[in-house]
Amino acid sequence: MSIHKKEIKRITTHTLQEMKARGEKIAMLTGYDFSIARILDAAKIDVILVGDSASNVMAGHETTLPITLDQMIYHASAVVRAVNRALVIVDLPFGSYQGNSKIALESTIRIMKESGAHAVKLEGGKEIKESIERILTAGVPVMGHLGLTPQSIYKFGTYSVRAKEEQEAQELIENAKFLEQLGCFGIVLEKIPASLTQQVSELLTIPTIGIGAGMHADGQVLVVHDMLGISKDFQPRFIRRYLELYDSMKQATEAYIKDVKGGNFPDLSEQYE
Ligand code: KIV
Repeated sequence: MSIHKKEIKRITTHTLQEMKARGEKIAMLTGYDFSIARILDAAKIDVILVGDSASNVMAGHETTLPITLDQMIYHASAVVRAVNRALVIVDLPFGSYQGNSKIALESTIRIMKESGAHAVKLEGGKEIKESIERILTAGVPVMGHLGLTPQSIYKFGTYSVRAKEEQEAQELIENAKFLEQLGCFGIVLEKIPASLTQQVSELLTIPTIGIGAGMHADGQVLVVHDMLGISKDFQPRFIRRYLELYDSMKQATEAYIKDVKGGNFPDLSEQYE
């Protein structure tokens, strides 16, 4: 008797392209660890982004700048071990690709070899042309990221909506077309007006994935901690909370403390003879 293991169809960059072509929206969430990535994959999320937002939500830094390449690889390899279906994309952290395409390629090769991830994401447009080209030449799929790019927060000064003015909107459109021509398989659009997202998404054949960029993107991404309501203090309007985990985890912890202190945990059924 032979046992037929049910084959799981993996999501690839080509799958995302096909989804855009047939008008099916792409669902993406961030993930940084094995346990949560396993749940997201079981729920059939299309893409898990090992975002450098790990710097904020996992490590408590104010910005994404401090996270290192080694730390991104640690998070990415935990996610990859959990996943059977989703496409896993990893952010190249600040300092690992800007300005020097050789360093960009070396950083990418480390991510791909040491974590087993499927693609990388970089922030920026024309200014990082050489880095993107070199990574693509090595056969690694690249996702772009335009609009609010958190690695440049000290240049912007605030996390407010980008590209509201005509000139910045035009630059963003040019960069989006440029990234598509270079060979990127998709672009994250962060915190830009919905009408601009619509314009860009209609212009491109590669999918756009929005965060705070309105309903017209070809897909959506949220930081998983925001979507689950684990982080309490960050509540911009573009986040929809599907759970209030901060409150329920706090209540569970309080109940545990009460049981331990009251001598109610463990009970007879929870101990060995
Ligand atoms: O790091 C991250 O979580 C991201 C998303 C906001 C797109 O880049």
